Amino acid sequence: MLSFQEPFSAFSHWYAEAVRSEPSEPDAMALATVDASGRPSVRMVLMKGMNEDGLTFYTNLGSRKAAALDLNRFASVVFHWRSLQRQVVVEGAVEPVMPFEADEYFRSRPRGSQVGAWASDQGKVLGSRLELEQRVTEYERKFEGAEVPRPPHWSGFRMVPDRFEFWQGMASRLHVRTEYRRVDGAWEAVTLFP
Ligand SMILES: Cc1cc2nc3c(=O)[nH]c(=O)nc-3n(C[C@H](O)[C@H](O)[C@H](O)COP(=O)(O)O)c2cc1C
Repeated sequence: MLSFQEPFSAFSHWYAEAVRSEPSEPDAMALATVDASGRPSVRMVLMKGMNEDGLTFYTNLGSRKAAALDLNRFASVVFHWRSLQRQVVVEGAVEPVMPFEADEYFRSRPRGSQVGAWASDQGKVLGSRLELEQRVTEYERKFEGAEVPRPPHWSGFRMVPDRFEFWQGMASRLHVRTEYRRVDGAWEAVTLFP
């Protein structure tokens, strides 16, 4: 059982260790969503912030994940930090971030990624690589000498967690699983059989 009373401190402790230990992208997480017909889908995204308000990620609002979240706001993410034999699952309801937050994060991105966000119609059928390259050139010209504004179709989401599960791999598969659930606004922790 983890010694933390609530999961955010436990997460920040484990995440700091993952940043030191994981060879690449400790912020990468698989995000699972469920569409209106109950069909799940999963993909990797990067966590861009985690505090007691929730966990943020950014994407194209025309994407499959955004369409699913529009109709079913419940989602789950999982981090896997192989170097530490650790997994963290987080579940909760997702809400859009405020426009000013998305603007602030968009401004911090490399210019190439900013232009890419305009050029990519994420998830739509692409005729050829050339078509994408032409769109990149088009937007590079459009914004030449100026700041690239955030596209209206690009923003972020915040998952407000109501469940965390911390998994520590141990010998003989006797792993340690600590579950935190938010019950009436307070966090309750239990240990689960592995
Ligand atoms: C390590 C990694 C990180 C990624 N991070 C993001 C991200 O932060 N935002 C995003 O929209 N796509 C990200 N992608 C691409 C997504 O996995 C996915 O292909 C894309 O968002 C389209 O997903 P959808 O069609 O299910 O909406 C990442 C992929 C990998 C492998």
